[in-house]
Amino acid sequence: MEKTNKDLFEKIVKVAQSRGFVFNASSIYGGLRSSYDYGPLGVSLKNNLAASWWKDINNDNNLSIYPVDTAIIQSSEVWKASGHLAEFSDPMVDYKPTGERFRADQVPDDLKKEDLTEPRQFNLMFETNIGPVQNDNSAVYLRPETAQGIFVNFENVLRTMRAKLPFGIANIGKSFRNEITPGQFIFRTREFEQMEIEFFCKEEEQEDWFNFWLNKRLDWYKSLGISEEKLRIRNHEEVELAHYASKTSDIEFLYPWGWGELEGVANRGNFDLTSHERESGKDLTYFDSVSNKKIKPIVIEPAGGLTRTLFAILCSSYDEDTVNETTRTLFRFNFDIAPIQIGILPLSKKDNLISISEDIKNNLQKNFRTEIDTTQSIGKRYRRQDEIGTPYCITIDFETINDKSVTVRNRDTTNQERVEISNLHDYFENI
Ligand code: GAP
Repeated sequence: MEKTNKDLFEKIVKVAQSRGFVFNASSIYGGLRSSYDYGPLGVSLKNNLAASWWKDINNDNNLSIYPVDTAIIQSSEVWKASGHLAEFSDPMVDYKPTGERFRADQVPDDLKKEDLTEPRQFNLMFETNIGPVQNDNSAVYLRPETAQGIFVNFENVLRTMRAKLPFGIANIGKSFRNEITPGQFIFRTREFEQMEIEFFCKEEEQEDWFNFWLNKRLDWYKSLGISEEKLRIRNHEEVELAHYASKTSDIEFLYPWGWGELEGVANRGNFDLTSHERESGKDLTYFDSVSNKKIKPIVIEPAGGLTRTLFAILCSSYDEDTVNETTRTLFRFNFDIAPIQIGILPLSKKDNLISISEDIKNNLQKNFRTEIDTTQSIGKRYRRQDEIGTPYCITIDFETINDKSVTVRNRDTTNQERVEISNLHDYFENI
């Protein structure tokens, strides 16, 4: 990473950690490498992103998307059928002088290449055992993707929801990969959250649906406030394609170190339904009443990362500017996803100002995420709210007692305007 970009990356990580978005996991014991906990603001941001994803994939009347929430531990048969037991591996090399291990394509530039072993395959699934007795049949795996939970429920959803093609099944939750080289903060971790849709369609419509989803997903990232220049689509070369995919396009984001994957949109054909049908012996076809035939739908899969999106949002929203000759740091989160949307700042801790602040909070918190902040000087409180990305602050001052109005400050412009308390709800509803 170039120095300026490294500085930027380090600043983002520092604010994210010091302001309560992300903490190092097991930190009181010195931390666990590449493992992170999400703090109050990080959880709020993550929940808001997940809610936005669900809303966006359901915002089209012509689309049927059915949600599922599937188990992290599935039968080992699932991973045999999906190909993960045989194929889900990365090439790993050892650096002989230190014994360190790297993914073959992620060896640091400064290491001597002649000191590396030949690459060998390393399976990325975490193995554990189920039940009190450990034997040959007790091995299970933590899911490396949420997608397989969808395929094994294809028939359940089809039957119970009387689903008709085309339709999608969506799943969001934790996935686990024993990454050889995790890193870059929460970009690549061993435990992370995915948000995946398996969209089932007829063979003749696969190209149209592939393009539809690629564009829809790209638009979603733009709707979160990521600028177009920081997003691009990259089509996979033939050699890069996963064992199940006939075509994949990545939506990439310009991270501080360069372009990298944000989401993959893949055409999985009928690979998964065919494999699970073969291994389970269950009929995983769809009866097409037009052709009067049983068919195997084609699957278009938009597979995104929730925690990786959160990181991209931190990167794209981070900014520094100068206000009143002092530099401030801020996250320019969109109003919809900001962890705190409105900071309520009484100028003093006097009872009358606190009680007005609480009334305002009671009125606004039904529809908005609000927080009363009474600590430190007003300048420091603005600074903190800017740093945690709060789009608006309301200041309650002594004049408020007489004119029943407050000052509303806009994070991005720092402009302030006087608004009557009775109009506050409408004011924020209409921004
Ligand atoms: N079902 C297909 C699938 O899982 P993937 O490209 O391996 O495809 C989809 O993963 C998304 O999950 C990625 O685009 C990324 O956003 C996220 N992801 C994958 N591995 C990750 C990791 N180790 N840490 C954080 N996010 C990860």
